[in-house]
Amino acid sequence: MEVEEAGGGVENAGKDEVEAEYHSHDFEWEDLRAEVESDPAFSYHLSPFPGPAASTTSPPQPSSEAWRNFHRRHASGKFFKERRYLLKEFPELPNSKDCAKILEVGCGNGSTAVSILRCHEMRKERPDFLRENQCCVGGMDFITMIFTLSAIPFAIMPSTIEQCVCVLKPGGLLLFRDYGLYDMTMLRFLPDQRVGFREYMRSDGTLSYFFTLDTVRELFHAAGLIELELEYCCVRSVNRKKNGKKMQRVWVHGKFLKPPSWR
Ligand SMILES: C[S@@+](CC[C@H](N)C(=O)[O-])C[C@H]1O[C@@H](n2cnc3c(N)ncnc32)[C@H](O)[C@@H]1O
Repeated sequence: MEVEEAGGGVENAGKDEVEAEYHSHDFEWEDLRAEVESDPAFSYHLSPFPGPAASTTSPPQPSSEAWRNFHRRHASGKFFKERRYLLKEFPELPNSKDCAKILEVGCGNGSTAVSILRCHEMRKERPDFLRENQCCVGGMDFITMIFTLSAIPFAIMPSTIEQCVCVLKPGGLLLFRDYGLYDMTMLRFLPDQRVGFREYMRSDGTLSYFFTLDTVRELFHAAGLIELELEYCCVRSVNRKKNGKKMQRVWVHGKFLKPPSWR
């Protein structure tokens, strides 16, 4: 299901996840929360993070370069599998009208885009690709942010979302999926990998933030979006390559509307 790096894996939607139920609730997030918060071994994940004055480390820098290096190292494109399950999570994508414009923010090697393209190809449609400067203000029907916001420093998430909302049409949808608080990959980070509250840096310099529903709600509401769907997706799976080790995955699924009356 997942390819791991030292100190925290990068999301990799493999076969097991594709086979999982998409709005899955294998376990209750509140039960996981109680378990984690009462375990002294995880206490360092819960403590407030010292502010810049108290901290000896500098705050995380925008990690675009670290991600560029990451994609160079995984240029074969095998690291991130196609995210076909997203077409079930977000049925608007396969059912969108012919000329719908979709912007994928932080597309990586195209795991999400390829799934969407394949589905339109099967319907014998020929998608057009927009150039960077064609993502005009108010021009997009859909924006997908799939495991991208967590890769951006928490401090610049509000301005990043504002820029996304700017290119979305009034009445358009922002489709969101990302790491949830207490996902297995968060609990594996070591104390010295913490770079902020619920924010971690992998050994290669890439960042990962873990969201609660409230954090996601606050970020998108502050940008003026209306919440249509927001929930934890809690999936229990077994890693057959690692002695049948049980894995508790937590993702946040969200769908937000730009008000049709937006001016
Ligand atoms: C975990 S990957 C997810 C990739 C892809 N969305 C997917 O579903 O496979 C995070 C992505 O965020 C992108 N990213 C990180 N910082 C960024 C930034 N400041 N601006 C745009 N993209 C960024 C990275 O290049 C990387 O492709």
